[in-house]
Amino acid sequence: MNCTDPATVPAVFGGRRPGAVLVTGAGGEVGHGLLAALHAEGRRDVVAIDVRPLEGEVASMCRERLVGDIRDVQMLERLLAAWEITEIYHLAALLSTRGEFTPETAHEVNVGGTLHLLRLAAEQARSHGRRVRFIFPSSIAVYGMGDLQTKRQHPRVREDEFLQPITMYGCNKLYAEHLGRYYAKHYRQLALDRVPDAIDFRCLRYPGLISADTLPAGGTSDFAPEMLHAAASGTPYRCFVSPGATIPFMTMPDAIEATLQLARAEEASLTRRVYNLSGFSASAGRIAELVRSFFPGASISFEADRQREAIVDSWPEDVDDDAARRDWGFAPRHGFHKAFSEYLVPRIRALHAGRSGVPA
Ligand code: SER
Repeated sequence: MNCTDPATVPAVFGGRRPGAVLVTGAGGEVGHGLLAALHAEGRRDVVAIDVRPLEGEVASMCRERLVGDIRDVQMLERLLAAWEITEIYHLAALLSTRGEFTPETAHEVNVGGTLHLLRLAAEQARSHGRRVRFIFPSSIAVYGMGDLQTKRQHPRVREDEFLQPITMYGCNKLYAEHLGRYYAKHYRQLALDRVPDAIDFRCLRYPGLISADTLPAGGTSDFAPEMLHAAASGTPYRCFVSPGATIPFMTMPDAIEATLQLARAEEASLTRRVYNLSGFSASAGRIAELVRSFFPGASISFEADRQREAIVDSWPEDVDDDAARRDWGFAPRHGFHKAFSEYLVPRIRALHAGRSGVPA
């Protein structure tokens, strides 16, 4: 494990440790957006963990940066000793495509890592006497539609339906949702010294995410962001699913906003622990058409990889996110067209113009 210099760990004065919000997987796509949003909110107490050193502006937005693996219990113990953590955004995970090459490692990271963090949260609550809010992004990958006919017959799936995932990542996320519920309500339920309600566990199921600033790594919904970024940079793209492959998506700003909205929601208004989210549902073919309308020279071809397509086909066409809309006001800004015309395309054009030295 490679951790920050112990000299940078804050001193504990009078038995009190400084307060902190913990973000794991801070260097990933969602992490970047979340660190920026927390910083914009005025938070200056973010402790970030990632397996690689954080780079660029986001690094300066953190009070402390740890380079390490969430499977490393000793690193987490040191966190416990150094900080009073009252909020955790646990983003670190191995996504669905990568996980199919090393399923056991995916399990260790996605389940083992989550278990360590839930235990850390419980111990934090015990030691500082306050509840720890635990925000956990789950995924559309928890679903398994069985076959295409079932997928078409059930175009808008509710939270409790079709939970038969076919990827290790999906199995891990679904089980971690249960672990969160267990730690929040039933952890050590027979122990005399248990601390009831120590963890306030809240979970969102992200659909495929599309960011203008970053590319995902190792996911199966990656065909949409890859197609767009390739077109913007003038690179030919061979899409690994057929034009008809359809799942829900959401822009990164909508995902970040939803994450913070759920984190800040009044507990009394929450009717569930796990919430579906969707910005829009679109097929790979419709996405390609829209991308071509903005980048007329784009070279996009379809060469389906049957196995990866089967994973996409196992996810629903769209999800029912009425509960999120009703309970905590989820209202994504970007529908299908707006996502591209108002956020993705202008921002990607500006980024590429900046890179080529042409003013944006
Ligand atoms: N984006 C994830 C993946 O493709 C699904 O949530 O693995």
